[in-house]
Amino acid sequence: MTQDEMKKAVAEAAVEFVQGGWVVGVGTGSTANHFIDVLARMKGKIDGAVASSEASAERLRGHGIEVLDLNSTGPLPIYVDGADEATRHLHLTKGGGGALTREKIVAAASDQFVCVIDETKQVDYLGAFPLPVEVIPMARSHVARVLTGMGGNPVLREGFRTDNGNVILDVHGLRIMNPVELESEIDHIAGVVSNGLFARRPANVLLVGTPSGVQTISG
Ligand code: A5P
Repeated sequence: MTQDEMKKAVAEAAVEFVQGGWVVGVGTGSTANHFIDVLARMKGKIDGAVASSEASAERLRGHGIEVLDLNSTGPLPIYVDGADEATRHLHLTKGGGGALTREKIVAAASDQFVCVIDETKQVDYLGAFPLPVEVIPMARSHVARVLTGMGGNPVLREGFRTDNGNVILDVHGLRIMNPVELESEIDHIAGVVSNGLFARRPANVLLVGTPSGVQTISG
């Protein structure tokens, strides 16, 4: 089974969590794209979607699913999204696609976060995948110096701007033993918009695609 087939399998499993009449929070990336394609089968039943990126909004609209403003919906019953790394504690690193801030907003506004990954994303400790940090452009050098002082090696994502007009520093070399504390510490650096650790608001359910089927890990 290929990695893409495992991503499709978890997308199929995730749609089982969605109920008619719901507005669905939708993430970003290749696994989330598979979820959007499967969600399209429910388009007459759900009440629309809130997207965590312009790219996902466009894909949803392409399927005829109405995309709503989070300010008009109230809390969402569910948010479905992928991740770049996940631990058995359901702590995540996200933001490989650069959509981390909107992903964090939609996750925070949702009752249940169903995270969909293939088995290559499972880790004992976060940090092998460089941690994305969204930064206001004028603060780039300052934030990079602080992150270096914390033991990381921040690298500017060249030629990339987020949907919010900011830059991303990908922080290499962190072995993250304390994700809850580190998430707060990085967020408190002046100029940081958000970082890709999802530990203060971890996933509620992790669906892991493996060659022998989809495994479910609940928090
Ligand atoms: C997007 O910014 C990310 O948080 C994605 O959810 C993450 O990178 C996983 O992407 P894939 O599903 O493409 O592996």
